[in-house]
Amino acid sequence: MHLVRLLYVSTALEAFTSDSLEELGQAAARANLVRGVTGVLLYSDGSFLQVIEGRRLEIDALYRSITQDPRHACIERLLYEQDTRRVFPDWTMALHNLDMAEAMAPNEFRPIREFLDRFAETTSAEVTHKSLVEFQSQLAVCAGA
Ligand SMILES: Cc1cc2nc3c(=O)[nH]c(=O)nc-3n(C[C@H](O)[C@H](O)[C@H](O)COP(=O)(O)O)c2cc1C
Repeated sequence: MHLVRLLYVSTALEAFTSDSLEELGQAAARANLVRGVTGVLLYSDGSFLQVIEGRRLEIDALYRSITQDPRHACIERLLYEQDTRRVFPDWTMALHNLDMAEAMAPNEFRPIREFLDRFAETTSAEVTHKSLVEFQSQLAVCAGA
């Protein structure tokens, strides 16, 4: 099956609590399950990084609605690629609140923090397919998924 994968970063406009993030993640996962969309949503210190993958039609429509969502802004698409296999096949939308995760296990999430920090340093950070595959396996280990 032909798929597309999209990664963006954005800035939260709401003061998200762990509860409101959890709600956002659960609503996204429910909707994504119906549409065959998988991916991951990371939140840290007022910023989001999200990967969504699925059929092009679904991903393009979802990204349009995400970009119109008033809960965040400064949305920057950093990757849009075609593939035949998913990098996140088992996650309808895995939400990770990195600030909370680090508070509980400060060292375990270091590789994920390093991946995120690359985008904080430069707005034109390149996301390669290889770095994304590494990121997924690190996240699976850190999160015990
Ligand atoms: C950071 C962020 C990530 C989101 N991720 C998803 C997602 O993966 N899937 C989804 O259906 N909605 C997601 N949403 C919600 C959408 O922006 C939108 O509210 C939802 O798709 C309903 O849109 P509609 O009212 O146009 O149907 C996300 C919102 C934000 C702020």
